[in-house]
Amino acid sequence: MKRVEDVKKIAIIGGGMMGHGTAQVFAVAGYDVALMSRKEATLAKAMESIRHDLGFLAERGIGRIEDIEPAIARISTTQSYEEATIGADFVLECAVEDMGLKQELFAMLDKMADPDTVLATNTSVMSITEIASKSQGKYRILGTHWWNPPYLIPLIEVVRTVDVEDWVVDFTMGLMKAAGKHPIECKKDVPGFVANRLQHALWREAISIVEHGVADPATVDESLKFGPGLRLPILAPLENSDMVGADLTLAIHNYVLKYLEDSHEPSPLLREMVAKNELGFKTQKGFYEWTPETMKATRDRLLDYLARVAVQAK
Ligand SMILES: NC(=O)c1ccc[n+]([C@@H]2O[C@H](COP(=O)([O-])OP(=O)(O)OC[C@H]3O[C@@H](n4cnc5c(N)ncnc54)[C@H](O)[C@@H]3O)[C@@H](O)[C@H]2O)c1
Repeated sequence: MKRVEDVKKIAIIGGGMMGHGTAQVFAVAGYDVALMSRKEATLAKAMESIRHDLGFLAERGIGRIEDIEPAIARISTTQSYEEATIGADFVLECAVEDMGLKQELFAMLDKMADPDTVLATNTSVMSITEIASKSQGKYRILGTHWWNPPYLIPLIEVVRTVDVEDWVVDFTMGLMKAAGKHPIECKKDVPGFVANRLQHALWREAISIVEHGVADPATVDESLKFGPGLRLPILAPLENSDMVGADLTLAIHNYVLKYLEDSHEPSPLLREMVAKNELGFKTQKGFYEWTPETMKATRDRLLDYLARVAVQAK
């Protein structure tokens, strides 16, 4: 049984957006990280992004410039699964979202890793149980769902399966805390875990409101940004329900729930947009019209906001 205090080496499989971001988090926390990707070019780009992101954080007062090179020096890159996995205490799979690929990867990693090495997948929505189904060591396979950008969003959903042993969950929760993150435990392996279920319940209603002509996209977004969205970091739904009273929540739900969107299919409006190639940033038209300047400004505003929140939280 592994202890968080004994952890030295973390292996990250996949060097894309989440792979390099999670490698950075563990390296900053003082762990040796082996970042594995099949292509040399991906690894080179990953290291470049890590240097850039650490520079951005230091500029914003999160971390120090003099700690950047030592953190980078703790990350080694490899194109070999074996080299990454051997001696690793925790292996985090961040390869593409493809069930067949993840099943094969875990079956292979399970054969390579020491019996007490914990194996985690960063899948966004897929069943952890199904991902682990071709592996022998189901007792040590679980989900850790990180959020993008991993170095600024604290949340990690640690997802159980019925097969995973308790010590694996406890160890993973402890390791995520030691890496400076905010883990929460999802007790059942359900699609969307906790936070994406909440998020997409909101998105479904937002799209439905536009589809039914109740408000235009900007108005829907404004209603949250200038209203309940402001309260959310301090007063989330269940605290809010307690504050106003379960009786009031019941009265509201008794009246309003029958009017809310409850479709189990994606919105026809969303399907129509995709059919017309109105994909958002990718095609510069979605719910809004976009230009390279407004897209950059939106991304910059988000990073700026998240960095300010992170500084305040220090
Ligand atoms: N991007 C997000 O916001 C986000 C958030 C949470 C979770 N995730 C999940 O994290 C995982 C990675 O997502 P991403 O956004 O980093 O994707 P990405 O496309 O940026 O990176 C995926 C990487 O996996 C590599 N890869 C593909 N097959 C591989 C294999 N057989 N072995 C090793 N590497 C392989 C690719 O070369 C690529 O570098 C996915 O499961 C995704 O659903 C993504």
